[in-house]
Formats: sequence, C-alpha cells, structure tokens
Amino acid sequence: MRRTAAIRDMFAMPTPGPEKFIWPVFVAPGSGRRETIASMPNQYRYSADELVKALAPVVAQGVKSVLLFGVPDDGADEGKDECGTSAADPHGVVQRAIPVLRAAYPELVIFTDVCLCAYTSHGHCGPRDPDGDVDNDAACEMLARVAVSHARAGADGVAPSAMMDGQVAAIRHALDEEGFTKTLLISYSTKFASQMYGPFRDAEGSAPGHGDRQGYQASARDPRTALRESVLDEAEGADALMVKPALFYLDMIREVAQRTLLPVMAYNVSGEYSMIHAAASAGYCDLYATARESLDAIFRAGATQVISYWAPFYGMIYP
Ligand code: PBG
Ligand code: ZN
Repeated sequence: MRRTAAIRDMFAMPTPGPEKFIWPVFVAPGSGRRETIASMPNQYRYSADELVKALAPVVAQGVKSVLLFGVPDDGADEGKDECGTSAADPHGVVQRAIPVLRAAYPELVIFTDVCLCAYTSHGHCGPRDPDGDVDNDAACEMLARVAVSHARAGADGVAPSAMMDGQVAAIRHALDEEGFTKTLLISYSTKFASQMYGPFRDAEGSAPGHGDRQGYQASARDPRTALRESVLDEAEGADALMVKPALFYLDMIREVAQRTLLPVMAYNVSGEYSMIHAAASAGYCDLYATARESLDAIFRAGATQVISYWAPFYGMIYP
C-alpha cells in the first residue's frame, strides 16, 4: 500500500486546498510599516498599505482569507483604557484597514478578531469589576459594539475571542439590530487558557498586566466544560465553532466535530508555529515537512478549516 509515491497518493486523504486556510495577521496604524516580531519568524506587523503588498503572493497561492488583529499604538489618539473603548472606534486600526484590503482584493474573505485585550490598559479581555474580576456582561456589551464597528467597516465575519459567557448571543443580537444580517459570526467557542499564546501576546502587546486568563478561558483539565462552551455558542447562533489551540487539543477538535454540523475551525496558534520554527532552526527537524505533519494532524482530527500562520507558506508546505 505504500511502495511508490503514486500508490501512497492514491490512498492518502485529500490534500487540503489553500482555500481551507485563514491567515491571522497583525495590522498596525499608519503607512509604510512592516515590523518584525521577535518571537514569530516570518510574521510581521503591517500597516494596511504594506499588508496589501504582502497579500499579493499569498492570494496568488490560492489562500482566500485573513483574520485581522489590530495592534493599536499606545499614543494619544488610540489610547488604552479600562474598558477597551477604542476597540470600537470607527477610525480604529482594524476598521480603517478593512476597506483598504477590500479595495485591493474584492474577493478576499475578511474576518476580524473581536476582543478587548489589545485595547484595555490592563490587558484583560474585558473591563474589570470592583473585585478585579473581569465583568462578563460589561465585556459582552463592549464586544457587541466592536463587532458592529467591524461589520460596518465591511468585514465578512467577526470572530469573538474573549470567552465571555453570552458573547455570541450579544453580538448576534447587536448585528441583527443594526441590520448586519449577512455578517458571519465565527466563534472562538472552545478556547483554552494556554501557554501557546506567548508569541502572539508579544506581537500584540496584549499580555495581561497582572493575573492570567484562567478565570474566563477554558481549562485543559476540564474537557466537559470546555466542550459545553461550543454547545452553548451553537445555541446562541454561531455560524462556525472553533477549537484553540489546535495541536495539544486534537481530541477536542474531534469531539466538537462529532457533536455539531457547523464548521469546526481549528486555530493553529502562535506557539505552535514558533515551536516548529525554533526546533527547525536548532536543526532538530525540517521546517516545512514538520509544519505539514502538524497540519495533517489537525485536519485528520476533524478540523474543517485552519487558521494558521503557515497560510502564506502554503506552496512551500504542499509543493
Ligand atoms: C485575544 C487572542 C489571543 C489569541 C487570539 N486572540 C491571545 C489570548 O487569548 O491570550 C492567540 C492567538 C495565537 O496565539 O496565535 N483574545
Ligand atoms: Zn482577548
């Protein structure tokens, strides 16, 4: 069954096409900016004009989608506050980038990350209550405003990642209320508190100032509650579910896929990307072959789409 490459190909599962990949990418204000990210080789913080240039070879490979993360400057205009108010600014970095990308790539599927942690002074995913806990319901209200601002800017879909209870219902309601009935709602439904987000927080400058996110993100040691988060989000009206991270949670991808008829996206997060880069640069493995093996695992587990920093390197991974 394995003697020749042609025989192996015949019995292999189908190779995922580039259209299954969503590139998560960091957008910064201004123009002419393309900043390296120390902990994420070959990923950059782009201003919108530079992202347009960077997308040309990516789109040429057949990748059709991005997931935008705003990286606001800490300057006077886009200052951070307790509530992350600037995340909903109609002139914010994500809101301004969307029409620029849309003009350059009319067919591009543009998703936006909806969270507050890059915009709050304390770096948590919502405002805090007097006890110092995240105020779940205040966060939902703010997240709904952010989602509407992204929809108004022309996003094809909004992807809430704050892990607040009821955030999907709040966003769905707000989108409907404002007439955005066609905007997709991609929920980061089962998102674990994970060490694998380290490089991303470095890229975004969004590490919580004190404490961690275990009070709202799912626990690796409580899979039943983690799965219930996806069940609830489906009931609240999500158009797609997600498991994040992917590689340490392949069992969760499989479980969610077996319990839903919605798409099950997997977020192949920053740490999963950077670990392979680190191992390859130490000479322990081949970069693209290892990336491929990890992506094979994610699809085999049952992911229907993958959000991955490998997306721009599709052609290197699947030659
Ligand atoms: C913010 C957010 C995070 C990621 C996506 N959205 C970080 C976090 O929750 O701490 C992680 C992405 C990655 O590591 O690639 N809510
Ligand atoms: Zn957040």
